[in-house]
Amino acid sequence: MMWPPKTMVGLTDSAVKQKGKTMEFAQLIESRRSIRKFKPGMKISEDQIKVMIDAAIQAPTWKNSQTGRYYVAMSEDKMNFIKNQSLPSFNAANCENAVAIIITAYETKRSGFERDGNPTNELGDKWGVYDLGLQNENLVLKARETGYDTLIMGIRDADVLKSEFGIPDSQEVVAVISVGVREDSPEKPKRKAVEDITKFF
Ligand SMILES: Cc1cc2nc3c(=O)[nH]c(=O)nc-3n(C[C@H](O)[C@H](O)[C@H](O)COP(=O)(O)O)c2cc1C
Repeated sequence: MMWPPKTMVGLTDSAVKQKGKTMEFAQLIESRRSIRKFKPGMKISEDQIKVMIDAAIQAPTWKNSQTGRYYVAMSEDKMNFIKNQSLPSFNAANCENAVAIIITAYETKRSGFERDGNPTNELGDKWGVYDLGLQNENLVLKARETGYDTLIMGIRDADVLKSEFGIPDSQEVVAVISVGVREDSPEKPKRKAVEDITKFF
């Protein structure tokens, strides 16, 4: 089934719910794709982005530390900066017609750390990246549910982004996520089988 129905693209979260057309969870995770070709002429509001970030906040985090941070470029100017100055050309090209580009970051040395500043275990700050990943998955699924699509990009220049967007040194930039409306539905890249990655004892 095509999601969202044509009439629903660009609706807010609550408007989607009022229409009684929220997507089944299984369908939601199955139909989310990394989208590298967005439709031209689409729009998004700050409120619609806030709905996605609110979904991110609902994710579980280490001691509820919620260290994810979001920097949302919505103006042509700022989106062009991200594309031209911080992304390799193939990622920049795939952001064409994006309605927003979200820089995701996290406050370091909190998730995975004790109050005295020592890491709780050998993973240290990797727990901050873990938490942000959980948050970002919620974000991209909420985007999908509300009629938008996304591309998570790990290949980006973090230093350039930190300086342009005033991201403090206490934060680490992780992924950049473009948001738009899919032009077409690409095939799902092949997944491993459960048996290949799981051992029961
Ligand atoms: C942490 C992370 C970094 C990624 N970086 C990029 C990237 O820089 N450029 C890109 O085109 N896709 C990137 N992707 C998208 C993956 O290639 C994609 O998720 C994977 O091929 C599976 O496809 P699907 O998302 O459609 O299921 C990234 C995904 C993740 C989770």
